[in-house]
Amino acid sequence: MNDKKLIFSGIQPTGTFTLGNYIGAVRNWGPLQDEYNCIYCVVDMHAITVRQDPVKLRQNSLNSYALLMACGVDPQKSILFIQSHVKTHAELSWILGCNTQFGELSRMTQFKDKSQKHADDVNSGLFTYPVLMAADILAYNADLVPVGVDQKQHLELARNIAQRFNQRYGDFFTLPEPYIPEVGAKVMSLQEPTKKMSKSDENPNACILILDDKDTIIRKFKRAVTDSDTEVCYREGKDGINNLMTIYSIVTGKDFAAIESEFAGRGYGDFKLAVGEAVADHLEPVRTEFDRLSKDKAYLKQCYTEGAEKALRYSQRIISKVYRKVGFVDKT
Ligand code: TRP
Repeated sequence: MNDKKLIFSGIQPTGTFTLGNYIGAVRNWGPLQDEYNCIYCVVDMHAITVRQDPVKLRQNSLNSYALLMACGVDPQKSILFIQSHVKTHAELSWILGCNTQFGELSRMTQFKDKSQKHADDVNSGLFTYPVLMAADILAYNADLVPVGVDQKQHLELARNIAQRFNQRYGDFFTLPEPYIPEVGAKVMSLQEPTKKMSKSDENPNACILILDDKDTIIRKFKRAVTDSDTEVCYREGKDGINNLMTIYSIVTGKDFAAIESEFAGRGYGDFKLAVGEAVADHLEPVRTEFDRLSKDKAYLKQCYTEGAEKALRYSQRIISKVYRKVGFVDKT
């Protein structure tokens, strides 16, 4: 490998990503490949911490893999794989779990939220979720991890686990840093713009899926909640308009001042339509490429098989050293 820094990130296999996932994360993964060594992973093992229909999970994992490629992740430039294909993640997770305190895991806000939401299934995988995430990252000694705000606490914990391991067994793991993209943006719900856009929102109009067709996208934007004002401008308190301006700015490359003058004297209706069209046009090539890839099952399989082989080779070297450090007997 060269001397570029190593980026690791993972995404849940929801099958289709939201505009929020896309703008906040996945859209940046392609361009990062030129500046960094990148390892990207579809985290199907994390997904089963909440109940999944096996048939759907398999399909969603494959779709997520193809969608990452359609969004610009190049399996020749990056290592792109499916988590369950690479056994080192589970192996390292066990060791890291033995270096993680019950109390630390109890403090994770996502665990608290999810255990309330899935009160009938507070399984130990849900509890140790952040340990597996730490293993994902540390199995490659990644330098940088692009994560949204909701995952910052987990990344902080991964650093603490790494640090504790280093103290006990001697310096070994790189302490991973969060990577915040330059034009990071949080996309809010179209219906309740103070809340994050989420696929699990009960109102389907709240959330744009990147595989939505053009008419659906435009319809959802037309129904976006705004305010009783009429002026398209970015200002505190105008959460709906601020969100639409952010989205429009990202997909068109126009800054806020340009957007404000473009829509000066025009109503919200015009603006919402323009945002919808711009987003649909922006996502069109992604949808086309996804359709093409989805039909080429053999090629997809070749990509994820090779990705898993590369990931295994890379992480196996690190795990072997970890096994020695903790005092396991050499196998050969
Ligand atoms: N927990 C992350 C999420 O839900 C996904 C994830 C799993 C991840 N392993 C990771 C992200 C490692 C970054 C690095 O978004």
